[in-house]
Amino acid sequence: MMDNIDKIKEYIFDLFKNDFTGHDYYHSIRVYNNAMKISKKYNCDIELISIASLLHDVDDVKLFNTTNYENARFILEKLNYQNDFIEKAIKIIKDVSFKGKDSVIPETIEGQIVQDADRLDAIGAIGIARTFAFGGSHNRPIYDPNVMPRVNMSSEEYRNSNNPTINHFYEKLFLLKDLMNTKEAYEIAKQRDEFMKNFVEEFYKEIN
Ligand code: ADP
Ligand code: NI
Repeated sequence: MMDNIDKIKEYIFDLFKNDFTGHDYYHSIRVYNNAMKISKKYNCDIELISIASLLHDVDDVKLFNTTNYENARFILEKLNYQNDFIEKAIKIIKDVSFKGKDSVIPETIEGQIVQDADRLDAIGAIGIARTFAFGGSHNRPIYDPNVMPRVNMSSEEYRNSNNPTINHFYEKLFLLKDLMNTKEAYEIAKQRDEFMKNFVEEFYKEIN
């Protein structure tokens, strides 16, 4: 018999099958796997972490125009989860996203782990691939010498920024390592961050 985790996987497989912005099904699966790995070191609610990590992007404003986490609610209600569990999962999903200087640190260890797991998939080799896929799908240039990176953007400015994709490394990706909540994620982030820095250094070397 299929368990709830398999049913949620099936749900997100369908939801993300037409995504070419770096938020495809396998992004959610990697976030889930990252979260499971970090969770082993903590006394925490594994079921809540599993579900929130698999559903963390199903109501993302960049991807869907739901307004009150309707997609997450729909599948969790269908699977007969209790209301207070659903609200806990939604709280985690709400807090997970990077919003420039409006980002939040989740209050619970479960929320902190899911946030770290998502941020790990934004950096390193996969992070580089996702970032250029995102930029291309949003009609952004790879590089423009006339547009400088901007840090410290608000959530609104961050979302509406039309900057060249290479700037995203300065605006977000290089900041993530030091924003990790857990020691386990920080250790993984250090390696991935170094790899990205080498990539960007080589990128500018070739340009100049
Ligand atoms: P978050 O909700 O924190 O933004 P996501 O899991 O939705 O995290 O993924 C964000 C990823 O999408 C980024 O790491 C990057 O790869 C891509 N992305 C988002 N915004 C931009 C942008 N302005 N330019 C380039 N890539 C972006
Ligand atoms: Ni994500």
